[in-house]
Amino acid sequence: MNYNFDEIIDRNNTHSMKWGKYQDRDILPMWVADMDFKAPPPVLKALEQVISHGILGYTHVPDTLSGIVTKRLMRLYGWQVEPESILWTPGVVSALNGACRAFGTRQERIVTTTPIYPPFLSVSDSCGKDLVTLPMTEIQNRSTLDFPGLERTFQEGAALFLFCSPYNPCSTLFTREEILELTELCTQYKVILCSDEIHSDFVLDPENVHIPTASVSPEAGARTVTLMAPSKTFNIPGLGCSFVVIEDPILRDRFRSALKGLVPDVNLMGFAAARAAYEECDDWLEQLIAYLRGNRDMVMERVGQMPGCRINPVKATYLAWIDVRDTGLDDPVKFFEDNGVGLSDGKFFGKEGFVRLNFGCPRSTLVEGLNRMERALKTI
Ligand SMILES: Cc1ncc(COP(=O)(O)O)c(C=O)c1O
Repeated sequence: MNYNFDEIIDRNNTHSMKWGKYQDRDILPMWVADMDFKAPPPVLKALEQVISHGILGYTHVPDTLSGIVTKRLMRLYGWQVEPESILWTPGVVSALNGACRAFGTRQERIVTTTPIYPPFLSVSDSCGKDLVTLPMTEIQNRSTLDFPGLERTFQEGAALFLFCSPYNPCSTLFTREEILELTELCTQYKVILCSDEIHSDFVLDPENVHIPTASVSPEAGARTVTLMAPSKTFNIPGLGCSFVVIEDPILRDRFRSALKGLVPDVNLMGFAAARAAYEECDDWLEQLIAYLRGNRDMVMERVGQMPGCRINPVKATYLAWIDVRDTGLDDPVKFFEDNGVGLSDGKFFGKEGFVRLNFGCPRSTLVEGLNRMERALKTI
């Protein structure tokens, strides 16, 4: 079956966070990370079945769902995980905060890198522990971890490292060597690793693969908490369904206790959608990635030629991280909004002078957004 990712679907007046921000203004929203595509037909059908049954009660995790996930992890990554290692949560951000509560004492520090998806930067608010941030380093037009800096930070004390792989916002796809080096440092300094891999399905080039952090060695598996979800992949983030993989039973119990009574169970719509997504939507996903690859190529080509803009190769995610410091703009997001494009502001990711563009949209919308950006930049 061929899916029509070119279809324009009006999201105005749907309470969409992405579109509601600019309601009644001629600004194309290219900020928050959801896509302007319909969810795959089997997912919509599964949700229709729940609705037509008509009773929307409390629900257990469907018997087969964790097994469907573990088979998928094996098939995609050769990563062997037992179904009991999977815990379901109504979101990756709540699981991230749960990990911050669960691991380390109040006096111990949490470490992450910048720029980073903004909720990583506010975990102290919910767990009361200090967060230390370390800038990513850039090597040959690619953002990656600053390993010497990370080691120094771990030497000064850390209980937990918050990692994002593939990396939002820089779109880095980490190599096996890099992940091994990270996990070895964590083992050496007894740091628990929380690896947010929500973007793992968005590897844009066929020659590349995502490597789960926990899969690189038994030691990595024993100290890693992996966060994954069908939400970004199948464009169902509003359903609140994600899962956590924790192979070590002691860490798993600690994580479970930290969430108990605070974080609700996933609801039956989320479970129904996840089951259909993982069992019936491989062809949809394959076509989606091919479409996003085309969008990515267009963004690289066009943004690379815009005055004052610099962009590194986008290897994963549907998010482009653009360095606009050479434009000389004081407030680039306001400038682009004034010119009809709504982007995410780098300052919320811990790095000013950058904007993030979400290209998970029909090609014609992307072309219009890029045209508006280009026209605006020529007026500076
Ligand atoms: C790295 C990362 N983690 C988590 C999330 C959000 O996860 P959830 O909606 O399941 O809380 C996002 C959404 O953009 C993200 O980019």
